[in-house]
Amino acid sequence: MRSFPENFYWGTATSAYQIEGAVDEDGRGRSIWDTFSHTPGKTFRGETGDVACDHYHRYAEDVSLMRELCLNAYRFSVSWPRVLPEGRGQPNRAGLDFYNRLVDALLAAGIEPFLTLFHWDLPQALQDRGGFASREIVDAFGEYTAVLANELGDRVTHWITLNEPSVFAFMGHVLGVHAPGIQDPVKAAAVAHHQMLAHARAVEVLRGLSSAQIGTTLNLTAVEPASHSEGDLEAARYADALQNRTFLDPLFGQGYPAELAELFPAFPVRDGDLEAIAAPLDFLGINYYTRLIASEGRSSPLRFNPVTGPGKRTEMGWEVYPKGLRDVLVRVHRDYMPQEIYVTENGAAFEDPAPDEKGRVRDPERVEYVRSHLESVLDAIEGGVPVRGFFYWSLLDNFEWSYGYSKRFGLVYVDYPTQSRFVKDSGRLFASVARANAIE
Ligand code: FCB
Repeated sequence: MRSFPENFYWGTATSAYQIEGAVDEDGRGRSIWDTFSHTPGKTFRGETGDVACDHYHRYAEDVSLMRELCLNAYRFSVSWPRVLPEGRGQPNRAGLDFYNRLVDALLAAGIEPFLTLFHWDLPQALQDRGGFASREIVDAFGEYTAVLANELGDRVTHWITLNEPSVFAFMGHVLGVHAPGIQDPVKAAAVAHHQMLAHARAVEVLRGLSSAQIGTTLNLTAVEPASHSEGDLEAARYADALQNRTFLDPLFGQGYPAELAELFPAFPVRDGDLEAIAAPLDFLGINYYTRLIASEGRSSPLRFNPVTGPGKRTEMGWEVYPKGLRDVLVRVHRDYMPQEIYVTENGAAFEDPAPDEKGRVRDPERVEYVRSHLESVLDAIEGGVPVRGFFYWSLLDNFEWSYGYSKRFGLVYVDYPTQSRFVKDSGRLFASVARANAIE
């Protein structure tokens, strides 16, 4: 039996567009993900978040599920266009009321809300004016943050400004496989930097709330060189700069990594920006899914080539590599010393069987994934890393972006035609760990 620290937060993570549905209800505006998912060819079988898990209507049932799973925390994101349909201007009372109801239901169930301000569903109205490629977004983000701080700041104490800025910048603006589906490295560089400035503005606004614990969430990976050859070591340095240090460095006062200048157009940095971005945080959120093995790639555009690791793979094709989570936590603690760390996402998609006649969903691979990654978190904690909570991705099977509904990450199985929910074996395991605050 290995125990977690006292007052450890046990949660699951979700995001608005992936679960809420109700895209045309109660005055919600359009987001770039509505536009993108409705564009032919962009998502698996043309699937969209129009209905998703219908969480907008079923949030009370979903909070009950969290109780059943013995959770004491929940990370969710707010849909910006639900509360500000045009991105700026007049807030939508009905949209704000949904989040009021959700937060109240969570607190009544003894579940601490962790609110993410931006999990990629930018109002389309703001994208039409340039989106994150335009510096105007910083003011808009500040106003949006203030609306939520005024509305929910008396009850929400944990605030996460951004989710995975690198995925939004690069998948959305270089590869174009996420909304807004742009392929323009110059814009992507601007998007990357303006996200950091928007983060900084949100921190400034939220500091007006005395009780706010403020952080941001980065997707980080354990980078390893394929061998100790000079070429592979150099490749690993570029991979680490791109995958990890792009935002870690500026958030912790070290500016952008020099390697980026060789890989990307210049970020549009002005005087004072880097100081603003480095404002102190209360915690860092880390999303970890897999490792990255880099081999020599001097002639490739990113200066490294990814190599397939030998481990078992999830349905996403990601190698299962629990030790990497410990490695990332230890490294971030050693090199950046955030005051506190939360694992804000970790999880896996596997092909789940439909529920059996008793409603049981057997998902032994996910059970093993969860167990091994929690052991890895404990290894880090026992090594002195201040990890204060763990959020499994995700509570429910949901809309997995361009993969539509084809990838199931949930601890809870969703039968989409009926919207019935079934706790999987992995959910039961997670509940027993959360209840005991320990792993057998
Ligand atoms: C992360 C995203 C989350 C989900 C998981 C599988 O990159 O933050 O929305 O898609 O991956």
